[in-house]
Amino acid sequence: MAPPPRTTPARFRTAHWIQVSFAAAVGLTVAVLLVAGPGEQGTILALKATARLAFLPFWFAYAGAALVSLFGPALKPLPRHARELGLSFAAIECVHLALVAWLCLLGHPPGLRTFLVFGTAILFVGLLTLCSISSLRARLGKTGWWLLRVIGMNYVAYAFAIDFLRGPLAGGLGHAVFYWPFAALAIIGPGLRVAALAQGLARPTNPSPAAMGTTAPPR
Ligand code: HEM
Repeated sequence: MAPPPRTTPARFRTAHWIQVSFAAAVGLTVAVLLVAGPGEQGTILALKATARLAFLPFWFAYAGAALVSLFGPALKPLPRHARELGLSFAAIECVHLALVAWLCLLGHPPGLRTFLVFGTAILFVGLLTLCSISSLRARLGKTGWWLLRVIGMNYVAYAFAIDFLRGPLAGGLGHAVFYWPFAALAIIGPGLRVAALAQGLARPTNPSPAAMGTTAPPR
């Protein structure tokens, strides 16, 4: 009898992160659509909900290395799992995109500006996801991969920020609960990276990973 195929534990773990994140996004979407209905309003609410869910793994992938540089090695599991966090974010974005497609089918496509700004963000998510495959990443070279990460991650952070920071004083308590915590994180994330960069520059002989703009060591 042929021996059972060998699975690398790391690969298995990554697949698990992706599956759990995707399932959570699908579950959240189904729950929102059941409560709010599958029409335009329900779909927009589900888009807002999946965007917030996606923001969590993205934020920890984005700020993880800076958190370690600033607050110490106890937080090292964050940058160590940056790849898994990033892929979890991408898996949730797939559900977000399915909802965009559903909104279009309902006859309420988003405006051109949304397609341009967020389409660019999705392009970066796609490129970063493709480059999580080591053979493709190797083609970029170290500098290319570093540039893609710095530009791509910061652009996606910017895309989140412009949505969460929209009309901060509008809509009363509901708006505050639904927006302010995410708006705060959207500001704190880049702030942490800048602080870690400054700290790294102050110690030029031993620049921190965040100072180098990395969220995880190159694999
Ligand atoms: C990485 C890519 C993306 C990010 C970071 C992102 C982020 C967000 C955020 C933060 C929200 C919540 C807005 C709110 O609560 O007011 C949202 C909702 C939404 N997104 Fe995305 N999105 C992305 C991709 C896309 C794409 C490609 C489209 C379509 C072209 C899109 C269309 C929408 C729509 C229509 C909503 C509902 C907005 C509303 O009417 O309030 N998103 N997205």
